[in-house]
Amino acid sequence: MKDEKPYYQTYEVEADPMDRLLDCLNRIRWEQDPTLSYRWSCGHGICGSDGMRINGICGLACQKLVKNFKGEVLIEPLPVFRVVKDLIVDLDPFLEKYNSIKPYLITKSSPPERERFQSPEQQRLFEEAIRCILCACCTASCPINQNKETASYVGPAALVRAFRYLFDSRDEASEERIALLDRKEGAWGCQTLWKCTEVCPKEIPVTKQIGQIKKQIYEIKHK
Ligand code: SF4
Ligand code: FES
Repeated sequence: MKDEKPYYQTYEVEADPMDRLLDCLNRIRWEQDPTLSYRWSCGHGICGSDGMRINGICGLACQKLVKNFKGEVLIEPLPVFRVVKDLIVDLDPFLEKYNSIKPYLITKSSPPERERFQSPEQQRLFEEAIRCILCACCTASCPINQNKETASYVGPAALVRAFRYLFDSRDEASEERIALLDRKEGAWGCQTLWKCTEVCPKEIPVTKQIGQIKKQIYEIKHK
């Protein structure tokens, strides 16, 4: 049954300072309210499924220790996305945008006999971007994505993945990628507001990477 209006509910939980907020949510669900709904899987900052807004800042519940909070903690679903139930949001639009940037290696030349060689230096260029776990915290925190008028912006998470392939020496689709990114819904939608970088649980320099995409677009178009 669907509630007429969304509402906040308060729970009291006993917790140790070293418990994570995810442990508290689990305790509520197991001991007080089995209907409380949220996503989680790994419990260790790997799967990216427990992104939520915690005291106004998006982050992973499994990475937040109780000792860093005082008194009441306000936990809300990620903004930007439609709420499905409690802390679960519909991430289909997020994944559609992610898929729109072609998040896979594209090659045109015939495959070599062995692997496509890449030096450690070439790999290092996009090493940080590989850490992305698609938790959606950056996109949910981005004021451009939060604004209905500019919500078609592909968002920081998709751009991090675009960066990853644009700067991969083995990829052979730069032109295709640049065409996808050289739009106001693409890299130019970013207004360098840094919110994505502030919340990224994997400490990816998101804004910097979007800036590098913009630079690459400019250089390719003006060479
Ligand atoms: Fe999450 Fe960071 Fe990836 Fe954004 S860039 S989806 S915040 S891991
Ligand atoms: Fe997997 Fe938090 S539960 S990242």
